[in-house]
Amino acid sequence: VPALEQEAENATISQGVVESNHAGFSGTGFVNYDNVIGSSVEYTINADSGGEHELTFRYANGTTVDRPVSVTVDGANAQTVSFPGTGAWTTWQTRTLKVTLHAGSNKIKATATTANGGPNADKLTAVLTGPADNEAP
Ligand code: GCU
Repeated sequence: VPALEQEAENATISQGVVESNHAGFSGTGFVNYDNVIGSSVEYTINADSGGEHELTFRYANGTTVDRPVSVTVDGANAQTVSFPGTGAWTTWQTRTLKVTLHAGSNKIKATATTANGGPNADKLTAVLTGPADNEAP
């Protein structure tokens, strides 16, 4: 099953800027979330099949303070994901979670839940991990 992915710099950004001053990102840059509650990056993942997917967020957090983010799929099923410090802004790591996607376009929004904003966001990858569900919704 091919991985589906979108670079953060190509996603829909609310209260954040694309930057490229910390090496190690994929694509052309990363998103620096504004340091406020509610700053967000909304990714679009076009799933071949519905079903359980593992989402992998690639990020950096050069501070020692967690930057938790609330993740929704099409505005629902919020899950909070922890983005602890990675040691440096140039050290990129991943965090994963399981979500249910439907076949077609899914909007995956990652919204900062603290005044520190989100971590620097590089990209989101999705891989089908459960049985494919291609029934009509
Ligand atoms: C620094 C760093 C940014 C980061 C910011 C933050 O300014 O250079 O890449 O986004 O800290 O704390 O969010």
